[in-house]
Amino acid sequence: MNNKLNVIDREGNAQPLEWEPEQSLMEALRDNDLPVLASCGGTASCATCHVYIPKNVVQSLGERSEDEIEVLAEAEGFDEECSRLSCQIGFAPELDGMTVTLAPED
Ligand code: FES
Repeated sequence: MNNKLNVIDREGNAQPLEWEPEQSLMEALRDNDLPVLASCGGTASCATCHVYIPKNVVQSLGERSEDEIEVLAEAEGFDEECSRLSCQIGFAPELDGMTVTLAPED
């Protein structure tokens, strides 16, 4: 079953989104026409898929990889706690109902 997400875009507008189990979070955003370039194709090397995950959810995603930390640290609007690369987040039923906020463009 798909997850339902709430996405806050860069203008602060909220919109609902369906996240299918075979998609990464980046793919769900990009395939629903949100402005996520994903120029590296999901290999944690471009930061164009940078998002903020709510504090109460981000812990459940586990640790960021070294690559992800390195790329995020250089990204515009990096938030130590809530920043993630959406290409590194796989589908999980527990993430149903989550609010995802797009980070500023680099
Ligand atoms: S798509 Fe490039 S870092 Fe996620």
